[in-house]
Amino acid sequence: MWRDLLPVGRHAGSGGYRRYAWTAADADCRAWFKAQAGARGLTYEVDRNGNQWAWLGDPLAGNAVVTGSHLDSVPDGGAFDGPLGVVSSFAALDELRHRGAQFTRPLALTNFGDEEGARFGLACVGSRLTAGQLTPEKAYELRDGDGVSLPQAMERAGHDPAAIGPDPERLARIGAFVELHVEQGRALDLSGDRVGIASAIWPHGRWRFDFHGEANHAGTTRLEDRRDPMLTYAETVIAARREARLAGALATFGKISVEPNGVNAIPSLVRGWLDSRAADESTLDTVVAGIEKAAMEHAERDGVDVRVTRESFTPVIEFEHALRDELNRILGGRIPVLGTGAGHDAGILSGSIPTAMLFVRNPTGVSHSPAEFAGEDDCVAGVLALADVLEGLACR
Ligand code: GLV
Ligand code: MN
Ligand code: MN
Repeated sequence: MWRDLLPVGRHAGSGGYRRYAWTAADADCRAWFKAQAGARGLTYEVDRNGNQWAWLGDPLAGNAVVTGSHLDSVPDGGAFDGPLGVVSSFAALDELRHRGAQFTRPLALTNFGDEEGARFGLACVGSRLTAGQLTPEKAYELRDGDGVSLPQAMERAGHDPAAIGPDPERLARIGAFVELHVEQGRALDLSGDRVGIASAIWPHGRWRFDFHGEANHAGTTRLEDRRDPMLTYAETVIAARREARLAGALATFGKISVEPNGVNAIPSLVRGWLDSRAADESTLDTVVAGIEKAAMEHAERDGVDVRVTRESFTPVIEFEHALRDELNRILGGRIPVLGTGAGHDAGILSGSIPTAMLFVRNPTGVSHSPAEFAGEDDCVAGVLALADVLEGLACR
């Protein structure tokens, strides 16, 4: 499975993955998923929101056990964030068949669409639509960097955008969703464990800062005559770091766009996207308010206008204790339980159905980078743990 996925959407220069929603690379990932489902004789379907499903047993019977993750990536993402959960789902099913497991509940494997939000700016679009946390009207407004709207992109990829929207009947058929994911930190490396269970996801969100200044000549405009939005942006980045440090939170400007983007012109507009996360919502509010205040103060001084738009927000997620405890019991009761600052479809779905997550050790903790890594033995331990969990939940 890894050999087939290896070249898909891989950038030759960086070695990272560029698998963005509804692109050719995404279509290749989807074709791979469909082929894996077909090779195992599973019932394949795409739901109204473009998420892929592969069923063993009757999809309509109810109380299904579902496992999976996503195949899309951030810009120059690693091989494991997302695909490890999908590959492990198929491998766990193979393992269970090898064990001769008798299923008493339907089992489904999934690939949720557009988890990273790399193209349209909003993460977990597939699961948010399904759970009713994103309305079709709001989804229709999403645009990529080239101005292509989400419905246009879906249509071009052969998916009917008129169909998107909440899918409560589908969710009602699911008794438990378990997502396996590469750890995006070093907690398991430090504790010496191969596999962990998720406790909670930090609240997090994305804010767009638009700094409007005045374009002018870099060689002739006196410093005191400039209204340079890059300056205000730079001061805001430093303020973000300070606010996050003081609060024990995280704040990152990882994406920027500049107009007109000429080396010898003062910019007219700098747009920066803030990603901020904290252990609790009031800390996150304090951090973002502090960054906004600093941006306003510097903007005033620099003769720049600043506008801040919250593009997305995900509240704190505490995974259901009963399912979490059940996983730990199935796995022998000594599995470390850890929180994470990373968002996941399992977090979105936890508002509608019982969900849980398994993490697989990442020896460097690096993620959202081509250097992301998990060792083969740890990946195998993850597959076996997932197989044990599915067997414990769905078999007699
Ligand atoms: C998804 O990986 C996120 O946390 O941004
Ligand atoms: Mn990710
Ligand atoms: Mn992920």
